[in-house]
Amino acid sequence: MTNAIRKPRGVLITGNWKMNHGPEAARKFFAALPADTAALISAKNGLRAAVYVPDVSIVAAREAAAEHGLGAVRVGGQNVHWEKSGAFTGEISGTMLTELGVSTALVGHSERRQYFGETDATARKRTESLLAQSFEVILCVGETREERESGRTNEVLNRQLVAVLGEKGADATHPARAYLDGRLVIAYEPVWAIGTGLTATPEQAQEAHAFIRGLLAKVAGDQAAARTSVLYGGSVTPQNVDQLLGCADIDGALVGGASLKPESFLALLTAGAKALA
Ligand code: PGA
Repeated sequence: MTNAIRKPRGVLITGNWKMNHGPEAARKFFAALPADTAALISAKNGLRAAVYVPDVSIVAAREAAAEHGLGAVRVGGQNVHWEKSGAFTGEISGTMLTELGVSTALVGHSERRQYFGETDATARKRTESLLAQSFEVILCVGETREERESGRTNEVLNRQLVAVLGEKGADATHPARAYLDGRLVIAYEPVWAIGTGLTATPEQAQEAHAFIRGLLAKVAGDQAAARTSVLYGGSVTPQNVDQLLGCADIDGALVGGASLKPESFLALLTAGAKALA
């Protein structure tokens, strides 16, 4: 399906590898992407791409991407501490990622919230810290099935976003608000759609995205809202991505399972390019 929807913020296709693909698999992934993949991704046509990989695979992924002419596929981290160094066993910092040439990271993914104690407050700390260190941040928000079924989707999105961006009128100097310059990306990922094969319908996704954009306008102004990419995530596949990208407020996708295979990641990129044509 081609669509006539304008994409003023371009399209951003991102893969979240989660705890998959060690260094060797990361190299194989980039080796298997055809060389003309790079031609799809350019600032000129408005398609951007990134993969969020396990920390141990970052170096291999970046090297392999460069080796195969795919440096345009950015490599990012999945979880980063807000402090720059210190006694935080098991954590890594933005400074460390910067040293590897990484300048993008996920924050507040629902799996971090569900299994590893991420809260709205820690998501805010990570976002503030990373934006201040010149990162692009993908802040993940989204409701659970129970929250949707009890009609609380907007309330949850409001809570998760306001916790990071601040309330209207208050917090005028809030770093995340100040940095709403395109480096803060929001990923709407309904928890019930993640890894379940249950994708939100384009109507459900568009409704949530429009709500998020409205909220951004309220807390950060119309210009910031117009500049901020809002990605959809949750069982996105090459089969359903066209319809999702056909929605006015969907600026791309954050893809788990379907980003792991090079052929399926390529199909997602191709769909992204098509949505811009
Ligand atoms: P999924 O994961 O595409 O496998 O549903 C999406 C995500 O968790 O970012």
